[in-house]
This record gives sequence, C-alpha cells and structure tokens, in this order.
Amino acid sequence: MENTALFPALGGFAHGGDYNPEQWLDRPDILREDIRMMKLAGVNCVTLGVFSWSVCEPREGEFHFDWLREVMDSLFENGIYTILATPSGARPAWLDRQYPEAMRVSAQGVRNRHGVRHNHCMTSPKYREKVRIIDRELARRFGRHPGLLMFHVSNELGGACWCDLCAEKFRDYLRDVFHDDIEALNRAWWTTFWSHRYASFDEVEPPYANGEGSVMGLNLEWKRFTTHSMNDFLRFEIGVLRAECPDVPVTTNFMTLYNGLDYRRMAPSVDVVSWDSYPRYENDYESLYETMAENAFHHTVMRSMKRDKPFMLMESAPGLVNWHEFNKVKRPGTHFLACLQAIACGSDTAQYFQWRKGRGSFEQYHGAVVDHLGADDTRIFRETAEVGAALKRLAPAAGTLVKAKAALIFDWDARWAIQDAKALAESTKRYEETCIGIWKEFLRMGVEMDVVASDADLTPYRLAVAPMLYLLQPRTAANLRRFVENGGQLLATYFTGCVDKDALCYLGGFPGDGLAELFGVVSEEIDTLYPADRNAVRCTEPGWGEWEVRDYAETLRVADAEVLGSYASDFYAGTPALTRKAFGAGHAYYMAARCTPAAMRPLFAHMLADAGILPRPLPEGVEFHLREGASGAYAFYLNHGAEPASLSGETGVELLTGLPVSGSFTIPPKHAVVIFRHKTKR
Ligand code: GAL
Repeated sequence: MENTALFPALGGFAHGGDYNPEQWLDRPDILREDIRMMKLAGVNCVTLGVFSWSVCEPREGEFHFDWLREVMDSLFENGIYTILATPSGARPAWLDRQYPEAMRVSAQGVRNRHGVRHNHCMTSPKYREKVRIIDRELARRFGRHPGLLMFHVSNELGGACWCDLCAEKFRDYLRDVFHDDIEALNRAWWTTFWSHRYASFDEVEPPYANGEGSVMGLNLEWKRFTTHSMNDFLRFEIGVLRAECPDVPVTTNFMTLYNGLDYRRMAPSVDVVSWDSYPRYENDYESLYETMAENAFHHTVMRSMKRDKPFMLMESAPGLVNWHEFNKVKRPGTHFLACLQAIACGSDTAQYFQWRKGRGSFEQYHGAVVDHLGADDTRIFRETAEVGAALKRLAPAAGTLVKAKAALIFDWDARWAIQDAKALAESTKRYEETCIGIWKEFLRMGVEMDVVASDADLTPYRLAVAPMLYLLQPRTAANLRRFVENGGQLLATYFTGCVDKDALCYLGGFPGDGLAELFGVVSEEIDTLYPADRNAVRCTEPGWGEWEVRDYAETLRVADAEVLGSYASDFYAGTPALTRKAFGAGHAYYMAARCTPAAMRPLFAHMLADAGILPRPLPEGVEFHLREGASGAYAFYLNHGAEPASLSGETGVELLTGLPVSGSFTIPPKHAVVIFRHKTKR
C-alpha cells in the first residue's frame, strides 16, 4: 500500500457507515446482532455519535458516555473501527430552552423554534460554549481509543443565520474586506444607483429576504461571509478537538455542489475531504451512465480539493433514500457500481447512511444495510456484502491517487454571480450543467479531468477548460495567462470575464483584466436565444463540421486570433464564433456560443493532442479511471450498460477475479473490472 492511505490501520479501504446504537440501547440483542452482521457484510468502520447530543448530555452538564464506550469497545474487539462525530448537528431541547440565541434566525429575520437539525447560529457564544464542553468531553474520553480512526465534525454544515449578532459579524467582515473605508464599499457596490449609498458600515444590513436584494456586491459578500462564518465554526470545533488530540485527523461531510458554501475555502480546515452522495439512480429522464457520470463529476470536485491524498465517500444510500421526488430502489448491481465508482475516482472509503433503519421519525423509511426485516439475506444486505468482499480484494489500491493532466475550472464565486446577474435567461443560464456537460465529454473520451477553482495552481495540468467564467478573482487572469504562457491549452467560452470580484463590470471589453489580450478577442454583444432559436458554428478546420448553437451567441471583435469557426445565420452570419491564439508556449481558445459538448469533440481532441494527453477509447456506457501508486496503477472500468462490453489494451491482473489479463477483456453488464498494471522495472 502507498503511504497516502487514509487509514493504515484498516489495511485497505473503509467500508461501513453511520451507525446509531443510541437508538437501540434498550435492545442489547440488536446491538449484538449488528456486530455479527457487520462482520458478515465486510464492514470495518462505522460513524458514531452523529446527532447523539441528547443521549450524551440529557441535561445540562450531565454526561452519559458509558453506552458509547461499550459500543466502541465491542466494535473494536470485533475489528471494526470508529469515526467519531461531534453532536453539534442537532441540539438537545434543554439547550434551546435555556439559550434561545443558539437557534438560527431566518432570512426574514425570524428566530426559529426548537427542533429539526442543522440550524444553529454559527456565531452564538453560548452555543459555542456548549459545543466546546461536549466536544472536549468526547475528545478526552475517546480521543485515544485504539479503535478511533478520525473525528467527524458536526454533520452537513449548511444554511445561514441572519440574527443581529451575525449581522454585526458581517459588518466586521466588511470592514476588513474594505479596509474600514465605506467609500471603497460604495464604489465597489455601485451604490449611487437607486440611492443605495451608505454613510457608515453600521448602516449595512445583510440582504434579508424582505430587505435589500438588489445590490450584487452585497449579495455576493453575504454568501462569502456565510462561508467564512461556517468555516469559522468548523475551525472552532476542530480547535477544541485538536487541543486534546492533535494527531487524530478531522473531516466534515460536504454535500455535492451545495450552493450555500464555497467548499474550496473550507477544505483547508479539514485533514480529509469527505462528502455524501445521493444521486437519482435509474430515473426516467436519463441513462444510468449519465447519472453515474454526473456523480463522478461530484466525486472529482471533492478529490480535486486535496490532490495529494484520497477523499472519502462518507454517506450513500445502500438501497433507497426517502427524500427524492420518487424514492426508487437501486436496481441489482447499481450499489456495487456506485461503490466501485467512488473508489475508482480516488475515495478510500465506501460508507453509507445508514447501517440499520430506525423504527420511527423522519428517516424510518430511509434505506439501510439492515432493514426492518432484520435479515442478513435481503438483496440489499447481500449486495452490501459483495461490496465488502470486493473492497478486500482491492485493498492494495488504497492510498493510490488519480493524477489528472486536464482540469475543468468550476468556481463558486462565478456560480453565485451568474445566478444573481440580471442578464441572459434565468431558465438557460445553467452554469453547473454547462460545466458538468463538458466534463462528461472528457470522461466519455477516457480522459481524467480534475475540477478546480479559477485561482487553483494549474501547474499540474496541460489542458484547462473554463466555461462561463463570468467573475474574475483578482488572481484569475494572471493565473490563466501564466498557464497558457507555459504551454497550457486553454478554452474559455461566452460570458467570461464580465465582472470583477465585486460584480462590477470591466470597462474596455470583456473578457476583462487583460484576458482580451490572452485570447485576442473582445466580446461585443451577447445574444440570448429563445428556446426554439437556432444558429450554428461553421468550422474552418477540415472534418470539424458544423455545430448547432442554442441559448447564447456572442459577437466578437477579433484582434490577433485565428478564426476557427463562424456563425451560419442571423445578422451576425459569417462573423467569428471560435478562435485560437498562440500565446507563449500554449494556445488560448475562445468559444463564443453554446454548442453541445458532443459537437465540440473535434476541438477537445485537437487540444488533447496538443497537450500530449492520450484519450482512452471506450465503448458506450463504460467509465474509466486510473489510480496510480508506487508499485503500479489500477485501471478501473465500470460498465453501466445492460450488455457486456469488450475492450482491449490491458495487461495485468484483474483484482476482483484474480485472473490475468493480456490484451482484450470483457466487462459483464452492470459490473466492474479492476486491472492492476504492475510497474515494470527499467
Ligand atoms: C444526509 C444526512 C444524513 C441523512 C441522509 C439521508 O444528508 O447527513 O444524516 O439524513 O442525508 O439521505
């Protein structure tokens, strides 16, 4: 195993999930049965303590941890490790009754009543005091337990608090951002418009739902502040744990592309990035491959936040969830594919919510490894046990890394600013879908592509695509220029570089901040098409063809770029739509219109060739990833289709069967093949 393995104690991957024995303390028979069944399912790790506060501290200052000690001990005696969560995701009733300021205030300015979860005030000193006490108790009592793998802070941090204290913290945050200069804020937010000027920071309010919502800079800073404030809370909890146990790694579980928090700013606070994945498998609007491919994008967003180590799949549903519009069960084989996909994308864990279905309340019908039926021969249980067995066979791959040479730039700031921009068409802006669509096309071509922020270090990459990079951080333009200068192949699209970090438009032409020089073009107009409108890009390169245009078409003034395609119709027929400029050792491409990623494949293939990246040709429905380690590489092929898929070009050992592969091989339908390519000595 390589030394980047997240959990050396496990000797491989972690397999398990959220376990809530505190709901079953009056059923010791069930707790015993759980351990028997966990071993049968190949579970080697569970997450304890999520939402357990009212059991751990039923009355203020009265602690009950014996149950936790007993459970952790008997799990460990049976070879099962623990990820221990702090309970701050939901508060006990005594706390809200005694300290109502711990309860969050809504965007309407109304304080919540006690209940539900994930709704505390991030700044409340009282809440922090109570969290500090319970976290310290946990760390002191369990931080040196031999079965402890890591701490899991809270659960799915999210939302925002709009209380007076948070509003005051927001003003402090703004004072910092604008160096105590209210005129700098007025300029940045263009507040003379509609008479919105502020005379002092004391006058600034958060953008309440029933208040100021028309100042783009304010909206954007509030979102950044919410991340800042959540991150501060996260760091506060981590600080309490580290003060007691500096060597225990810490994570918190992220939620896919959750819009409310810029996870890239939070990732540095944790040792390991983990996330919860709940796709709508086997739905009625796309193939399983499409759903899986989107899930792979999400895995990649998580992986790319820390490229030097694996990430974690913290939660996924073994069978079904209970909160989709339609709670369809995973069809046979889907669970296996989904778990192997996480591993293929660079996760060192396949974890579930949840081990056992509870009898009552909100999630009583949410899928679990153990059903109300309680049997160890249900379909779900058997499929989970298959995953457990497969992960054991794949153990040597734990700790290995996916090393992409291509990157897609996806930015939370650009996303927020695009959502808020009073421009284009609300129904077709589709920033996320545009990024995901392009990323999926590279996946289809068998090219591994990280997903990174616009200010990320781009030196590991030779090709980058930055769709709709509407907002430019102060460092972005320089970063992109450097990338191309050093030989990178870069593609940008319509709606790029329109505003700065305060959502103020650049003057002198988009893309701003010097990017017009990099691409050799300036955008003059952006045309928003009605859904039935069509145009096309006629490519000049032989064989590239004509690409249908929908939704958006920019007209360009070309300075010193080569024109590779022009519009086919409308008043801008014949004018440039696709350009390329050689810049330093690389090329900067500008695609002025929205075309399908499939249509743009010749362009992607050309860029890949220039970047020296070899695509891996794949049959339809097959997904490919490569994890690399010191002794060799692990090639993962996932067949999401209903028919066997045949491939060739691999030599090594197939790890799930233990059989040698030399040349061609077949992947059974809805199954995976993992080939270990041994590194040959030179
Ligand atoms: C997650 C959450 C879990 C559970 C699960 C149900 O978002 O962290 O506690 O509620 O959803 O799908």
